[in-house]
Amino acid sequence: MDNPGIRSSDDATEHARASTLLSPRFYTTDFAAMDRLDIGSLRTEWDALLAEYEGDNNHDHFQRTAEFNEEVARLAPTWSPELRQEFLAFLVSSLTSEFSGCVLYNEIQKNVTNPDIKKLMRFMARDESRHAGFLNQSLKDFGLGVDLGGLKRTKDYTFFKPKFIFYATYLSEKIGYARYITIFRQFERHPELRFHPIFRWFERWCNDEFRHGESFALIMRANPELLAGANVLWIRFFQLAVYATMYVRDHQRPQLNAAMGFNVTDYDFEVFRITRDISTQVFPQTLDIENPAFRAGLDRLLRAAEGIARAQARGGVVGALGKAGWAVVGAATFVRLYVLPTRRQPLPAQVRMAPAW
Ligand SMILES: [Fe+2]
Ligand SMILES: [Fe+2]
Repeated sequence: MDNPGIRSSDDATEHARASTLLSPRFYTTDFAAMDRLDIGSLRTEWDALLAEYEGDNNHDHFQRTAEFNEEVARLAPTWSPELRQEFLAFLVSSLTSEFSGCVLYNEIQKNVTNPDIKKLMRFMARDESRHAGFLNQSLKDFGLGVDLGGLKRTKDYTFFKPKFIFYATYLSEKIGYARYITIFRQFERHPELRFHPIFRWFERWCNDEFRHGESFALIMRANPELLAGANVLWIRFFQLAVYATMYVRDHQRPQLNAAMGFNVTDYDFEVFRITRDISTQVFPQTLDIENPAFRAGLDRLLRAAEGIARAQARGGVVGALGKAGWAVVGAATFVRLYVLPTRRQPLPAQVRMAPAW
């Protein structure tokens, strides 16, 4: 589906470069508007957060060890070809989203003078560059390293106003945390299933993502107009878009999830639950993921995505018609999901949360 097979470094780079509805994107934004942000109303919490970045507790974490290399050499030959392809696709898409953050935060850092924003973006770009580099090393083990410089030059960029950057990156940082910690906890319970050493790095790694999310939470809470009025409709939209994308993408990797000992749907809903609980720190409305209509809608979206992929593979007039038909089903389902009742809660006085999952 979104995985035509990764057999060379060029395939991996091409895979990272692809712009589909499901693939991670690169973003650019309005730097002048970023520059005008004021986080003054949350100065104490902001300074405490920046001090954490300064302390850099993960500075020595993203290093390969001799055991790491030994484990890769021992475990990789035991993978089925399907698992191997799905795991490689997972590495490439994780790398693409890490590098997307790196590029965006770095561009903002270079283009603003606001000292608070500049400093934050520099720290986050530092972290994401480590994450991307560490993932790329695991691709290089198989001779499949992605050409990051080329990717930066040639991948399409999506322009988002700052507020959309905040909604989207806040969610992707927190969902990134939730995904990594859920996988880490699973392998803590079932070390016999851990088929690659990179998962042992996920706990300290995802604390970086959690902190990145905290930064955007503070920015949004310090500028409360971003969380009120018609913006609440955008916030609902972004939650649904992010959850739906993840649901469809994860269901395209059945072998990977089976190897992790996960039922894909249960894993996704656990990740949604964690993300939803965290996001009450900043979003006045969250999706009611327990509503059976929400689950049913996601499954319908998944069927529509599978229908589109089948029609595309078939090609010709019949394929084109089929694709258009499934696209209508998908869009209508998305709208129905969007108008489901949401959960509303007052924003807590204390913004910061601890990564306690
Ligand atoms: Fe990251
Ligand atoms: Fe991050």
